[in-house]
Amino acid sequence: MIADVVVDLQYGDCGKGKVAHHLCKTKKYTHVIRYNGGCNAGHTIYHNGRKIITHHIPAGVFFGIKSIIGPGCVVEPGQFFKEIKELEEAGIPARDLVYIAKNAHVITSDHLREDNTDTTIGTTKRGNGPAYRAKYGRTGVRAQDVPALEAFLIDIYDELHGTGERVEILFEGAQGFGLDIDWGDYPYVTSSHCTTASALLNGVPPQAIRNVFGVAKMYETYVGAKKFEGSDPIFNRIRELGEEYGATTGRPRQCNWMNWNRLIKAIKINGVTEVIFNKVDIIEEVGHASIYNDGELVDFDGPTAMKDFISDSLPGNVVAVFSGDKERI
Ligand code: IMP
Ligand code: MG
Repeated sequence: MIADVVVDLQYGDCGKGKVAHHLCKTKKYTHVIRYNGGCNAGHTIYHNGRKIITHHIPAGVFFGIKSIIGPGCVVEPGQFFKEIKELEEAGIPARDLVYIAKNAHVITSDHLREDNTDTTIGTTKRGNGPAYRAKYGRTGVRAQDVPALEAFLIDIYDELHGTGERVEILFEGAQGFGLDIDWGDYPYVTSSHCTTASALLNGVPPQAIRNVFGVAKMYETYVGAKKFEGSDPIFNRIRELGEEYGATTGRPRQCNWMNWNRLIKAIKINGVTEVIFNKVDIIEEVGHASIYNDGELVDFDGPTAMKDFISDSLPGNVVAVFSGDKERI
């Protein structure tokens, strides 16, 4: 068994959908598994020139690969069926490819109602926190308890360990390191684990992990209730050029420069082998970039100097890949 992981190193919205889509196209995966979160996620994918935003369903579906919502996830049946329908309308045979681990938990209408009253965290109001609370409070509802989901259920142990066939998995993470329940800026976090360790909770042994693709942006964005935006008016331009509005809620994302120390922490904790830095073209267009390093703001004349700093400062074996947003794969 071999598994690669796509994991976000900042606050989500770094382009995991794009990276997962590209990997599915170029590698020989047998399964793509979402390992955390629910429909709070919004993965923007350009497929054959068409923009599709997925919330629950992993990117394998675009390439005929079995796509599983893993046991670490929470599923909202209404959103799930809506997404299946949208994908089918776009000509993607989602019904034949998408599965839900029978022990994944369900976001109920009560969870949605409760999350809708949130004013302190700035959640996506998708029922995520209440569903995980119910799971860990041992009062939750699992996918196997919902008759409407029956046709999609899978036993992940049998699927990954029981067939004797080649298994090569892409784990697709949701949210990001800064939103992780343990490593993020608590309480301004999501309710799931957003690191590589979380992928392992979905049925694979640690030895199976091959590559860990960390995804970051050349600047940072965050959506939620805490103050995050930097004081420089340049962030208004970055937000417009980078189309930094939530894929799930449409909220404007607060922007700031990259925090180098936290990025390194995320790289180390996640065991990242390769970092994809997205939105290089946005920095090129604004013509200036900075990085917070050891509490100081380091200014660069342009993206080339910033890329050189990044490549020179990454830990030993970690490879940097730079990518523009307009390169729509
Ligand atoms: P929740 O996950 O909906 O409970 O929201 C908790 C925090 O995580 C809020 O600040 C959300 O805006 C943020 N968040 C949750 N999911 C995502 C995501 O997929 N991308 C970016 N931010 C997210
Ligand atoms: Mg997103």
